[in-house]
Amino acid sequence: MTKPEPAFGIYIHWPFCQSKCPYCDFNSHVAEHIDQVAWRSAYLAELDHYAKETSARTVTSLFFGGGTPSLMPSKTATAIIETVRSRWKTAENLEITAEANPSSSDIATFEGLAEAGVNRLSLGVQSFDDGALKFLGRAHDSSQALAAITKAKQIFPRISFDLIYGLPGQSEAAWADALKDALSLAGEHISVYQLTIEPGTDFHRQRVAPADPELGAGLFEMTREILQNAGLPAYEISNHAQKGAECRHNLVYWRGEDYVGIGPGAHGRISRPSKDNYDIEMTLAWRAPGAWLGQVQKSGSGLHKRQKLGLSERRDELFLMGLRLAEGVSAERFQRQTGISLEDSLNEGALEALIGENYLICDTDGIRATEAGLLRLDAVLAHLLSSAPELQ
Ligand SMILES: C[S@@+](CC[C@H](N)C(=O)[O-])C[C@H]1O[C@@H](n2cnc3c(N)ncnc32)[C@H](O)[C@@H]1O
Ligand code: SF4
Repeated sequence: MTKPEPAFGIYIHWPFCQSKCPYCDFNSHVAEHIDQVAWRSAYLAELDHYAKETSARTVTSLFFGGGTPSLMPSKTATAIIETVRSRWKTAENLEITAEANPSSSDIATFEGLAEAGVNRLSLGVQSFDDGALKFLGRAHDSSQALAAITKAKQIFPRISFDLIYGLPGQSEAAWADALKDALSLAGEHISVYQLTIEPGTDFHRQRVAPADPELGAGLFEMTREILQNAGLPAYEISNHAQKGAECRHNLVYWRGEDYVGIGPGAHGRISRPSKDNYDIEMTLAWRAPGAWLGQVQKSGSGLHKRQKLGLSERRDELFLMGLRLAEGVSAERFQRQTGISLEDSLNEGALEALIGENYLICDTDGIRATEAGLLRLDAVLAHLLSSAPELQ
């Protein structure tokens, strides 16, 4: 039997939002005027640019992220999807996701997105509590969130929504109740993020305090348990799904597979088979929307930086991403992606110590974090990677 081709994704970044949320450090901007024709042409030009070198690949997922891509005109989404389908082969079950906000202007675009070919919607609900939504500076209230979920379920075959927990003053009991209520509305997938206070955001300037680490750890464990019992186990630190309903596009990142990243600030990974392992390059597009657009118009590409990843760098990112997954870093995939074995890429003593502390499990499938390891994943990774050998 021939092995299935590795997954290959295309990410499209739409950098505009109706308003800027005080916790958000994504590359998202409020713009007074958007030249829609120019933006559409720029995305199509950038798709052509990357198709030249990757058109032999089969696209397994396309993801419109942001910003708020549900505010992208459906004509633009349609043109992008048609271009992808005409320049690349696409998988029979091609997953096409769009992120959306639950405000009324977004809800009005759902039909257009579905007609364009979007078959999975990821809604940024954040909370069903109006006080919490106000605190989070969201442009929608809980009734709009409900309306958006109801409408999305009627239109899209697959939906997910995002929630944020660990808000100042939120108790374990209050979060447990909120989560159980949210579950009655959830479908096959839900993303649940603990609030982080990122430099450069309004929350950071206002010195909003994140949940203290002990409470944060309690909330994290409780979230996992409630969702697991409801049939939505965590397949990644913040992402829960029924079996088979995982977001295939995000799995591309966490499994270290290739993807093309298009739009302001988008990054990508493009590998090429070489003699004894895989050469892989990172790509990074200009971050400021105006700079990206101007660059595409001038040169046909918004690429800012492109460079080959060294083997140690590659090993590090495969662990940084892979250990977030319940399945961990696969031994077979790691060998294909780097040309070396998992164990040879690490310091044996450090690995054994982390296994001995019950933070990691290593078997023939690969290496994965235990429940205890996930709770202190940053420290586990720091120990594992700082001791790892330099690879050539
Ligand atoms: C690109 S945003 C989602 C798209 C959409 N613009 C929205 O806000 O609904 C991805 C998700 O990351 C989460 N997120 C963003 N910043 C966060 C932060 N500082 N702490 C926790 N979660 C955050 C939110 O749940 C958000 O829905
Ligand atoms: S709508 Fe989403 S992307 Fe835009 S500012 Fe808010 S959280 Fe960030």
